[in-house]
Amino acid sequence: MIYNIALLRGDGIGPEIVDSAVRVLEAVGEKYGHTFNFTPYLIGGAAIDAVGVPLPQETVDGCLASDSVLLGAVGGPRWDTLPGNLRPEKALLGIRAALGLFTNLRPARLYPALSGDCPLRPDLVRDGFDIMIVRELTGGIYFGDRGYREGKYGEEAYDTECYSRFEIERIARVAFETARKRRGRVGSVDKANVLETSRLWRRTVHEVRDALYPDVELRDVLVDNAAMQLVRDPAQFDVIVTSNMFGDILSDEASQITGSIGMLPSASLGEGTRGMYEPIHGSAPDIAGRGIANPIATILSAAMMLRYSFGLTREADAIERAVDRALDDGLRTADIAGASGAGTLGTREMTDAVMERL
Ligand code: IPM
Ligand code: MG
Repeated sequence: MIYNIALLRGDGIGPEIVDSAVRVLEAVGEKYGHTFNFTPYLIGGAAIDAVGVPLPQETVDGCLASDSVLLGAVGGPRWDTLPGNLRPEKALLGIRAALGLFTNLRPARLYPALSGDCPLRPDLVRDGFDIMIVRELTGGIYFGDRGYREGKYGEEAYDTECYSRFEIERIARVAFETARKRRGRVGSVDKANVLETSRLWRRTVHEVRDALYPDVELRDVLVDNAAMQLVRDPAQFDVIVTSNMFGDILSDEASQITGSIGMLPSASLGEGTRGMYEPIHGSAPDIAGRGIANPIATILSAAMMLRYSFGLTREADAIERAVDRALDDGLRTADIAGASGAGTLGTREMTDAVMERL
């Protein structure tokens, strides 16, 4: 089979880690007899510098014409003072919306080999944990009405959180389907003690469960409590489903208790098979261009692409196992090297190590 993949390398360490994932995909293609064609497009600060806007139309069209999209990261201090609609981050929201990617899957699992890097007390994570965060990605406060106006105290700014029953139902279905393939438990995170959107969220999620997924266990968790429970007893969670902003915040928290944010992949999905795959860490401008970034989150994102967009389960398993083996063999990039940092691998060497273990 031939698969056409749009590459959005972006900014900071984006180009380095995307190139790592491309090398791994090419090796997988060779081994299993698939052809992956890669077409690069501009996004983020790189696009601002080249053509003056963070998300050129050509990029949107190229992604829409592709079978799937692999993204590095966008943003950096150079573009931080631009107005909101010209910021690199705006491109990320724009491409998610343009591709209809309303689901964001963010798996957070503690690798046994990295349990020493987990900042939680060993007795709290004795049995490890394996959480799938299902974040709603094209609604809520990220996309609500916003602006500036004159208020009681003069100038004020506002952003609004809005969710339709339709949007909640479709993300709830993804969460329940996901839970059925895992341990059958969903924690729905909201702030229903304060927010009207959360009350609709809670009611709708329960309706979907009662009507279609009576076999799945559903628990409501208030977002402040969820943030606390994640560092008290992360193993209590299987699938977490939540709104765009709560999911943004909780997924960073979940990533850090796995040892390093440099390890976590993500998949953004819509109604069809085309998805966008990216590490959940950012562009890390402080280490960009030094060849020391951890490529694993992007390599694992490529594995998610094979699994979710192309249905290549065997190939995805092979990549994930190769990463496991590299870690089990004690190989480390600087972010997961522990205090000494001795003998750590650079981006290229870690990529080589994963490829050797495919
Ligand atoms: C993420 C990021 C983005 C988000 C930013 C860069 C717009 O933090 O993917 O988690 O908030 O969605
Ligand atoms: Mg985030």
